[in-house]
Amino acid sequence: MKNIDSRSHVRGESIYVNDIPVREDTLFGVVLGSPVAHGKLKKVDFSEALKMAGVEAVITASDIPGENQIGSIIQDEELFADREVHFVGMPVALVCARSEALARKALAAIRVEIEELRPILTAREAHAEKKFICPSRTFRIGDSDSMWKKCAQVVEGQAEMGGQEHVYLETQGAYAYMLEDGAVKVHSSTQATKYVQVGVARVLGIPMHKIEVDVNRIGGGFGGKEDQATPWGAMAALAAYTLRKPVKLILSRADDFTMTGKRHPYSFDFKLGLDQDLKILCYQVEAFQNAGAAADVSPAVMERTLFHGTGSYHVPNATITCHSCRTHLPPNTAMRGFGAPQAMFAFEAAIMKAAATLNVPPMEIQRKNLLQEGDRFPYDQLAANCNAGTCWDTAYKKFAVEKLKKEVADFNKKNSRFKKGLSLFPLCFGISFTKTSLNQGRSLVHIYTDGSVSITTGVVEMGQGVNTKILQAAAKTLSIAPRRFTIHSTNTTRIANPSPTAASSGADLNGKATIMACEALRARLQGVACRELKAQDPAQIEIRDEIIYLKGKATALTWERLVALTDESRVPLSEHAHYATPVIYFDKTVEKGHPFAYHVYGTAVTAVTVDCLRGTYEIDLVKAVHDFGSSMNLDIDIGQAEGALMQGIGLMTIEELLIDPKGKHIYNNLASYKIPDIYFAPKEVEIVPLDSHPDALALLGSKAVGEPPLMYGIGSYFAILMAMREFNPKMKLQLWAPLTHQKCLLSLYDDYGDLLK
Ligand code: MTE
Ligand code: HPA
Ligand code: MOS
Repeated sequence: MKNIDSRSHVRGESIYVNDIPVREDTLFGVVLGSPVAHGKLKKVDFSEALKMAGVEAVITASDIPGENQIGSIIQDEELFADREVHFVGMPVALVCARSEALARKALAAIRVEIEELRPILTAREAHAEKKFICPSRTFRIGDSDSMWKKCAQVVEGQAEMGGQEHVYLETQGAYAYMLEDGAVKVHSSTQATKYVQVGVARVLGIPMHKIEVDVNRIGGGFGGKEDQATPWGAMAALAAYTLRKPVKLILSRADDFTMTGKRHPYSFDFKLGLDQDLKILCYQVEAFQNAGAAADVSPAVMERTLFHGTGSYHVPNATITCHSCRTHLPPNTAMRGFGAPQAMFAFEAAIMKAAATLNVPPMEIQRKNLLQEGDRFPYDQLAANCNAGTCWDTAYKKFAVEKLKKEVADFNKKNSRFKKGLSLFPLCFGISFTKTSLNQGRSLVHIYTDGSVSITTGVVEMGQGVNTKILQAAAKTLSIAPRRFTIHSTNTTRIANPSPTAASSGADLNGKATIMACEALRARLQGVACRELKAQDPAQIEIRDEIIYLKGKATALTWERLVALTDESRVPLSEHAHYATPVIYFDKTVEKGHPFAYHVYGTAVTAVTVDCLRGTYEIDLVKAVHDFGSSMNLDIDIGQAEGALMQGIGLMTIEELLIDPKGKHIYNNLASYKIPDIYFAPKEVEIVPLDSHPDALALLGSKAVGEPPLMYGIGSYFAILMAMREFNPKMKLQLWAPLTHQKCLLSLYDDYGDLLK
């Protein structure tokens, strides 16, 4: 089935926050951000700004009737800086004017006095100064300490990985206005209606039922709108509440870039031990997460780093430690993969180092150590329906890796300026929020008397096609045509307390709730049909393709007639259902449990060509065998895999966030921060579904797909590195993603030695 949004998208008719018709008296907000990364806020003088035509107010911390606090996991984040600023772009004030242009003009007239303090910018620096967001955690399996001496080879090293900007097409924003009796409505571009509702309630000091948050859809979130849509919703609501006028606040791309957090940069110290046969005996890693200036969801991201510390491999002895370090950058936040890509990169980096040291192909070490059925993860869960080896072997055969290897070797023999590299990357990603309590979905289904159906769930459509999947699940359960359904906006008055749309679990959790609601309605309809058709048992009734069957035979009773009859019989045609993932649990006191509903596996093959004169590279191909379970919509799922792959390639190659010594992002626009475009895309992309076990905890057996394929991008890093080493075998092995063209060029000629003579 086609994505139900495709028609309105291509016609430009899809509605986002900025498309909502505004009331005539609407004011437009522009945020004043701190110009310095760390300092004491001495004075904010906005008297000149207030004198300007069309400027109605400058809102600051002192206007907040409730709490100046929007921290979710830890209460450490002010909505507006009060006494101190903690990052460049930290909101200090909101200017409200009759147009955005006027507000921006007024912004320039505000004078801010700040006494600058020294900023901490890297995780390692923060760690040295013991600046942490939360206590550090360690996952342990076996006893790595006692194993090192039993290893034939031990390698140690460091790896660094940069952050990543979300680059959702629709920037952050909200439109807020008063309803009657002190209630506020907020249209927000958020992945988490509840979080915006909670944030607004705290800032305004009013109960949650007075706040209605509505999301029709968002123009991408990629995790950036899980926790970080809240400040803009809260600011718009605060201004609307204070001024009693509608307020719209949409961030410009530059402001969004400067003020919002990104994927967490990480630093790693790793140590890997192998036996004679290249079997991994032990692994130890210390991960330093650069959390930025406030907790945001960093403790949860850190948790996923711990869960994915050993990647797709079986490691009998492992010690994985992670520190969440407080720095003076915008609070880093959720982004597709949520701490897992960094952990997997570190593990692959360790394998690369071992391979380089032992002079064996990394693939040999990788294949020998893949997870097998029944292997234990460091957090105690066992690998079940484990497809790590199957994906690897299928990819190896299907994509003729032996032949590719030979082609690459031949090419490299014949060419001196251009070199090719090849890599395989095995994926294993756990599905479920790592925090067990978040694994709940909700759905409200109304059947109207004409037989049409309305569905509201807790999930937010952000381009991932989840509403299409919800519709498919409902249409299948009720056995009626897709045209009968509308999936309505995500709204806190229709669905209360939803989990954020995140952790790739949106479809599983809310789709399952939808099936439950539809099953309950179906049972009631069967009951009515049973009476109408004078059958003995509702079990003899079946609804199939809008016709009512009795004991397997079609009757004259249709869907529409049965629905009308049900209403006439005073049987309710509405149902609200709640789904909670069974089985999962986790005990943080021992760091053991069964946190994931299931795992998603896959293997990507990547080939690249490096121009060793210029340090540039092209990605020749990425081919992956991916475990979709039994996909309910391959069009959407392949689209998700391809999109995630591109985002992952960007992360590992050209997307670089540079920060100046004072903590300011050097790039704040898409002319300087380069994301992959069509010219940079691999010349060939092929995603082959592995027809795997349709997991019972996945929606209709169709496994979660939103995040896992992003990690295939890691393969591009190592393919480029392999090509570079062909050119300069003496090159220092630098494990520092992203491997930009610039870094590539500099490394190629590092320790060039004899070759230059
Ligand atoms: N796809 C699009 N087009 N836009 C997005 O913002 N977000 C990703 C993924 N795919 C995203 C996307 C992220 S980070 C997650 S967690 C999942 O979608 C969330 O949706 P799901 O749970 O319905 O898969
Ligand atoms: N993944 C993504 N988002 C989250 C998670 C998670 O495990 N936990 C809380 N938010
Ligand atoms: Mo996705 S990072 O879990 O929103």
